[in-house]
Amino acid sequence: TTYEHIIVSTPKPGVGLVTFNRPKALNALCSPLIVELNGALKDLDSSKEIGAIVITGSERAFAAGADIKEMKDLTFSAAYGTDFIEMWSDLTVRVKKPIIAAVNGYALGGGCELAMMADILYCSTGTTFGQPEIKLGTIPGAGGSQRLTKAIGKSRAMELILTGNNFSGKQAAEWGLAAKAFETPDECLNGAISTAEKIASYSKIAVKAGKEVVNKSQDQGIKEGVDFERRVFHSLFGSKDQKIGMTAFATKTKPEWSHE
Ligand code: HXC
Repeated sequence: TTYEHIIVSTPKPGVGLVTFNRPKALNALCSPLIVELNGALKDLDSSKEIGAIVITGSERAFAAGADIKEMKDLTFSAAYGTDFIEMWSDLTVRVKKPIIAAVNGYALGGGCELAMMADILYCSTGTTFGQPEIKLGTIPGAGGSQRLTKAIGKSRAMELILTGNNFSGKQAAEWGLAAKAFETPDECLNGAISTAEKIASYSKIAVKAGKEVVNKSQDQGIKEGVDFERRVFHSLFGSKDQKIGMTAFATKTKPEWSHE
């Protein structure tokens, strides 16, 4: 299969690698990219040869968020009516093989959320994580409020989500959000590939079971939380400030909030 926004390869036997490839938009996760990602993951998941999957972006950006230009004019009824962002959940609910995210550069908004959906998160010390949605007049919509809070605790997550401040890969590893922070992006990607290779050398049945049971510990309550978060995220497409915030980003101006 050929894709427009991603590249799929097999860097080592048993390892599927998906690389986001929208360099001009810093790998902003537009809906067509997510559709392609879901398709590629489905194929890798059903392939007899593949034992583990790595997802990555570039050195500059894992992904700078959901695509703001796509969301800018979205209405509440369209967001709610199409259950916008729901298809991002396929990644966590459908793929049974382990997914390792190798996260370098910007991992902001939906990029941070996608990284947190992975089974194992690797980054480099200089990775820039953040949930900057508040600056756009909205909130995380792909599980960020639930997964970040669960991983690093309520007070830190609240501070990050309400200020929109970034945090580094070094901090992510110290807080336990990332399994490891490597010195360089190259080491991060190679580290992810070699961990995937190791996992792929084991019994596929045992690996599948291992992933399933660890995830069981996470799933209690998370699904309800993510569904609730998505509904509130949809409702903000009915606010003036979401239009103001995203239009300001797209036109490179400073937002003047209406507080409506
Ligand atoms: C659409 C984006 C984008 C995004 C960057 N671009 N991020 N387009 N959606 N999320 C585009 C820019 O518009 C620009 O296009 C090009 O990529 C290069 O970006 P620059 O801003 O020129 O680069 P730089 O000055 O280096 O700044 C990098 C940056 C900045 C700090 C990462 O791009 C930025 O702040 N991006 C937005 C980050 C963000 O707010 N993410 C959260 C999105 S909301 P042109 O055409 O001008 O060259 C979100 C909601 C999630 O994710 C909820 C559901 C999933």
